[in-house]
Amino acid sequence: MGSSFLALSIFTIFLCIYHKAIGWAPSDPTDGFVSLPLNSSNFHIHKPWNLPENQRYRFIDGIHWFWVFSTNKPLSCNSSTKPRSEIRILLGYDYSLGVWQFEGYGYVPNGTSGVCIIQLFGASGQSTTLAMVVYNGTLSYYLSSVLVPHIYDQWFRLNVIHDVGAGKVTVFINGVLKLEANDHGGTSHYFKCGVYSQRTPSYYMESRWKGIKVLKKK
Ligand SMILES: *[C@@H]1O[C@H](CO)[C@@H](O)[C@H](O)[C@H]1NC(C)=O
Ligand SMILES: *[C@@H]1O[C@H](CO)[C@@H](O)[C@H](O)[C@H]1NC(C)=O
Ligand SMILES: *[C@@H]1O[C@H](CO)[C@@H](O)[C@H](O)[C@H]1NC(C)=O
Ligand SMILES: *[C@@H]1O[C@H](CO)[C@@H](O)[C@H](O)[C@H]1NC(C)=O
Repeated sequence: MGSSFLALSIFTIFLCIYHKAIGWAPSDPTDGFVSLPLNSSNFHIHKPWNLPENQRYRFIDGIHWFWVFSTNKPLSCNSSTKPRSEIRILLGYDYSLGVWQFEGYGYVPNGTSGVCIIQLFGASGQSTTLAMVVYNGTLSYYLSSVLVPHIYDQWFRLNVIHDVGAGKVTVFINGVLKLEANDHGGTSHYFKCGVYSQRTPSYYMESRWKGIKVLKKK
């Protein structure tokens, strides 16, 4: 018993040294990035123009709650855009150069569908560099690649990296690389999260976010 424990310990130590030697280490998407100071002054809530903010957004116990109905008004009265409740996150940190990262923990309750829950705004010839949508419980990059087939009713960690110089976006979910894609050009960018109705929305749409960080490569 004692000797097999000793053997196991030696084996474990050997494995650690081996992994260090070949450069293997459990890496994190935020390695090499610094978290920028962020407070409520960096958050601007986008909501139906005719409603007070607290009818579509709450911040309780560190959790941002966003909800909207498909019949709600758009952001501004003459706008033809669909209803939304979102944080425009990077107020004060709009960027056009460098390598930037959004980190947040998201949650989408069962039933919410036909909705965009995160956008990296700003592109050339279209509005977004990246958009992630939920349709029928599946989280996708636009409607083109599935990121998580069953996303409802669980917190997930999201890291989105935008390397402006390289023209690339990278998405990690729960620390696992899920997507590498080209960006869509553009000269000024910022992140948004919440709920923004798309085609064939559910009547009620909700997402929750916590631990929101904006990071920049050192
Ligand atoms: C938020 O941060 C900015 C600087 O980053 C600071 O000037 C401002 O006072 C802070 N506001 C609050 C409400 O803490
Ligand atoms: C909306 O459109 C109407 C009619 O064109 C115009 O009179 C009004 O000033 C516009 N409102 C805003 C906030 O742009
Ligand atoms: C979502 O709710 C529907 C209707 O109540 C139920 O049939 C379905 O199994 C639920 N899905 C998940 C992932 O919980
Ligand atoms: C979601 O489900 C509805 C109803 O079953 C279906 O009409 C629609 O095509 C689905 N949407 C996607 C993007 O899968």
